[in-house]
Amino acid sequence: RAKVTINTIQKLYKSKEPITVLTAHDYPTGLFVEKAGIEICLVGDSLGMVALGYQNTSPITMEEMLHHCRAVTRGAKSSFLVGDMPFGSYETSPTNALKNAIRFVKEGNMEGVKLEGGSEMLETIQKITRIGIPVMGHIGLTPQRQSSLGGYKLQGNTADKAKKLIEDAKSLQEAGCFAIVLEAIPEPIATCVTKILRIPTIGIGAGAGTNGQVLVQQDMLGIFDRFMPRFCKHYAKLDKIVTDAIKTYREEVKTGVFPAKEHSYPMEKEEYEKFIQ
Ligand code: KIV
Ligand code: NA
Repeated sequence: RAKVTINTIQKLYKSKEPITVLTAHDYPTGLFVEKAGIEICLVGDSLGMVALGYQNTSPITMEEMLHHCRAVTRGAKSSFLVGDMPFGSYETSPTNALKNAIRFVKEGNMEGVKLEGGSEMLETIQKITRIGIPVMGHIGLTPQRQSSLGGYKLQGNTADKAKKLIEDAKSLQEAGCFAIVLEAIPEPIATCVTKILRIPTIGIGAGAGTNGQVLVQQDMLGIFDRFMPRFCKHYAKLDKIVTDAIKTYREEVKTGVFPAKEHSYPMEKEEYEKFIQ
């Protein structure tokens, strides 16, 4: 497959072909994204939860994110690569945000970055996009701000909140974002945002009216064992498949079924006889 670039994404948007986005956090999950032909591979900070076992996305550091980004790029070679800026890496000042966005490119081999927030991020996003790093916005349910949102809840579900969302989306477009993630907002509002904007919207829990969809790979494969929101469809139940396989392995070792002849290396009889003398 030809390398997916910012131009490819633009073309898909113009031709109204839905844009597919999926997360990855290491070499094999990156390879799955690549083999399935997903256009944008997002190294989401959700990896803090699904791959590192943190309770939420707050603890994950730049170093941890960059380490995982590098691994993903060895697998997802032709997808457009976006790294998720972790909590604390872009809020303190636009300059600090710019430094860390550059680290995603130089040390994480990413092509773009994603960060959470609305109009308050305008200056920060401008700083990053102006030096040529594509930025993906993220509004609605912003998990890094879950404490002030009172948990992982539906956003933009009142007239006033929906109006604020529209304003935020316009600001992000103005700031130069190449796409915006809309998370956990009512379908009619996501559809409205999508119609107003001139850049693609990527929905997660935002209905069918957006220009693309994103899911967390471990969630959609049924690997992650914790809270699963309504918007996550399970395309497989890998948790059970993997656990059953490992249980069978354990059982076969305990009962001597594994390894069998075909898994073992024989030796020439003559050599063996010489050996045991
Ligand atoms: O961290 C993540 O995986 C994300 C996507 C769900 C958009 O931010
Ligand atoms: Na994220």
